[in-house]
Amino acid sequence: MSEPSMRSAWSNRWTFIMATAGSAIGLGNIWKFPYMTGVNGGSAFVLVFLGCILLVGIPLMMCEIMLGRRAQKNPADGMLHLAREASASPHWRWVGLIGVLTGVLILTFYSVIGGWVIRYILHALAGDFDGANSTIIGNMFSGMLASASSLLFWHTLFTAMTVWVVARGVNHGLEKASKILMPSLFVILLLLLIYSMVEGDFGRALDFMFTPDFSKVTPQAALSALGHAFFSLSLGMGAVMVYGSYLQRHVSIARTSFYIAIADTLVALLAGLTIYALVFKHQLDPSAGPGLIFQTLPLAFGQMWGGQVVGTLFFILVTFAAWTSSISLIEPATAWITENTSVSRSAAAYLIGFCTWLLGISVVLSFNIWQDVQIISGLGIFDTLDKLTTTILLPLGGLMMALFAGWVMRTQHVREELGLQPRTYAIWRFIIRYISPLAITVIFLSLIGLIGS
Ligand code: PFF
Repeated sequence: MSEPSMRSAWSNRWTFIMATAGSAIGLGNIWKFPYMTGVNGGSAFVLVFLGCILLVGIPLMMCEIMLGRRAQKNPADGMLHLAREASASPHWRWVGLIGVLTGVLILTFYSVIGGWVIRYILHALAGDFDGANSTIIGNMFSGMLASASSLLFWHTLFTAMTVWVVARGVNHGLEKASKILMPSLFVILLLLLIYSMVEGDFGRALDFMFTPDFSKVTPQAALSALGHAFFSLSLGMGAVMVYGSYLQRHVSIARTSFYIAIADTLVALLAGLTIYALVFKHQLDPSAGPGLIFQTLPLAFGQMWGGQVVGTLFFILVTFAAWTSSISLIEPATAWITENTSVSRSAAAYLIGFCTWLLGISVVLSFNIWQDVQIISGLGIFDTLDKLTTTILLPLGGLMMALFAGWVMRTQHVREELGLQPRTYAIWRFIIRYISPLAITVIFLSLIGLIGS
């Protein structure tokens, strides 16, 4: 079954684009990006983020898809195969192995937050936000976090939904889910956008997000933007690499990477505009941080016309986005087990799902019973996992992949796979060899500076 010729493949390039955009568009776009924009001074952050996507994100996405398609294997065995092809050290497989582990670690907390979102669909549907003031909404959120059994229930449901799709395979699981969920996501987002244009303070939202104010481009904002570009495009852990390994040979990697990055960025910007138009209309705080969609936005839903429907649609939108991302988080590990053992795909998916579920219990408890447990430098379990994966492991994976493609792989192999015009290839290669490694190194150096301060 694990013969390369029997390997699954996407039905066509659009399903690949849809699935990879599904992986990219997630909590990062609708939950994290808007609140990070608010916290980091609005337009300045947006501007730097766009620059990072263009300069580092797209070239690295091309790099990861290229590695996957060339290797035709899961990330760990894929890196080993490519290293052998380039007569390089077999230790390169660790880049893939760490990626496999990173995905599992991210899902442990991603599924807990995914669970919150599902819980909030029910709150919105029940009209719990109607006329509620900030104390009621605040208590709703803290009450949810305080109840370990309730968090565990929603975490279990979200993990089960994820595993169910992955167990069904590339065509019947990942592809089918993306084909249904992604168009629905775009329709819901469009409806919400139209609503916020009519009912919200859209002008102020536009101004907040797009009027450039270079004085606000602080080094801290720039670093957050770069780190977030990785997370948002799902780069650095082999999710895009494994999706690329199911891609047919004739499809243009550059063009598809471009489409995926545009879709991802567009959704982040439109979600931000939609949220801020409603936040400004109701004179709420744009820099509320992680609570923005769980505490600030529900206040707006509770005050506005049709808020029950709009709120419900909003949380369905976030659930769909999180779901198509979570499946890509355990696909590398599932492919790795399936391609190395006689364990069936569905058994592998359930096994990985069980591990993430089990580890996720510690994340659930970190919001209540284990609230005071600290892992490193004062950070609790959830914050440690979040920081470890998004600020260290993902950029590190991206750095290694860039170095591998730029300095270790044979130029001829890279060119064969990318099929770019000489000039475009030269630009891409320059970025992958110098700009991306430099940018990532700057993140790390500043991180050390931040920890030291
Ligand atoms: N890109 C996803 C988001 O924006 O929510 C998160 C993510 C998915 C990160 C898959 C990494 C990954 F491999």
